[in-house]
Amino acid sequence: MSDSVEKFPAKVPLRVKPWGATGVLKFLKAARRNLIELIPQTAVEQPMLSSIGRRRWHMVMDPAALRHILKDKVDSYPKADVAVNILREAVGDSVFLAHGPHWLWQRRLAAPVFSHRNIANLSPVMTAAAARNVQKLSHLSEGAEFDVYPMMVQTTFEVISDVTLSGDEAISRKQMHHALDAFIERTGRVSFLDALGVPTWVPRPSRLIHSSEFKNLKRIADKAIDTRRERGSLPVPDLLDLFLSGEDPVSKRKMTTAELRDNLLTFIVAGHETSALALAWSLYLCGFDPKVQEAAAQEAKEVLQGRTAVYEDVAKLPLTRQIIEEAMRLYPPVAMMVRTAKEDDEIIGHSVRKGDPMMLPVYALHRNHRLWQNPDQFDPSRFADRKSIDRFSYIPFGDGPRICIGAGFAIQEAVIILGTLLSQYRFEAVDGKEPKPVMLLTLRPEGGVWLRVHKRAEDTAA
Ligand code: HEM
Repeated sequence: MSDSVEKFPAKVPLRVKPWGATGVLKFLKAARRNLIELIPQTAVEQPMLSSIGRRRWHMVMDPAALRHILKDKVDSYPKADVAVNILREAVGDSVFLAHGPHWLWQRRLAAPVFSHRNIANLSPVMTAAAARNVQKLSHLSEGAEFDVYPMMVQTTFEVISDVTLSGDEAISRKQMHHALDAFIERTGRVSFLDALGVPTWVPRPSRLIHSSEFKNLKRIADKAIDTRRERGSLPVPDLLDLFLSGEDPVSKRKMTTAELRDNLLTFIVAGHETSALALAWSLYLCGFDPKVQEAAAQEAKEVLQGRTAVYEDVAKLPLTRQIIEEAMRLYPPVAMMVRTAKEDDEIIGHSVRKGDPMMLPVYALHRNHRLWQNPDQFDPSRFADRKSIDRFSYIPFGDGPRICIGAGFAIQEAVIILGTLLSQYRFEAVDGKEPKPVMLLTLRPEGGVWLRVHKRAEDTAA
């Protein structure tokens, strides 16, 4: 295939040779460097791959098969055990990791907290974050080169921590950020090694974790929750308030401080870097395709008239939203999910045995040639008619009962921030500084997202 650099945004060549001949050490080295390099080229051509040999695994890129695993037979395909055990250290048995009845009651309690109305009420926090970004960029000199990725990580962290644990309580953002980043960095690679069934003698960095910083983080979080219990709700309730007043409508069970803390930490872990990546890759793609950027900027300028986006603007910025959706197709923040088969099964002609790891490589699904035309091309208009996209061909938020509970929150946040930035600034690609997609737990832009930043003329400003 002759994909030229001019035509296609950043991608990693997938593996053409089989791993069999390569040897376990090379395989492990690649796994630590970039999990995308483990995905074979055939994964973007075939519906499903199954290994032959002693270590069995499957890679699933077929919408019907994904519906089977994620929705129809969800109880037969729980999240992979070892990955779950490692993450449990960070977020306990929260809604993200729990199974069965313990997951169900938490999800029932959490669902109304994330209702459209509640998320809309949290939008001022997102608008304030967008305004802070504009402020930060205003300090740059005209045409300065700037890495937008760290700015997005900081922004989305501030948003999620402001709506969960920060409030006005004494919790240090910096301390929490540090503890979480260290944790994600150290656990990212290892969970997939485990899921792939790599022997236990291979050293696992996470086993070396000294979790004292994490214990400290939990202590601070508990203090913040207890303080809020005593003081009562903020004038505009945040997620902590909503959880404190919430209960499972069926069992009437409420969350203890420890359960609440684990869930709030979950939202921070699950919602902060993922949202930052969606935004950073969107900005990269805007720099990559100035025509698309101009169209979205024009739309945003007309709607916003020089102000920062608010909740009501989100529905009026369809191009901004399409860019974000297309960015999450090409660079899904969660680029691989892993499940374990609980029983023997057959999926589109492949025999699955109890205990087999099921890899769901979202990256390869979203670039599968059977499902997408010119899959490596950046084309946000694919999402102009959402109904034309087969539900299980596009799963940046997962699907089925375990679908991301924060999807609406993340989209609203991303549109508010990206729309505001595009209306006021023009982002230009910097030659020779293309980011490399690197998959650990999430799909990160290695090298950062460097863009030349230009202030836009205020011709349509009020
Ligand atoms: C662009 C941003 C985001 C992306 C791409 C994303 C992606 C995902 C994906 C793929 C899953 C399913 C994982 C699996 O089934 O193995 C998931 C689950 C989850 N996400 Fe997100 N997420 C994002 C933002 C958020 C936000 C902002 C929050 C919270 C405020 C959040 C909270 C959760 C929770 C709690 C779950 C577990 C749900 C359950 O198992 O019942 N996520 N997310």
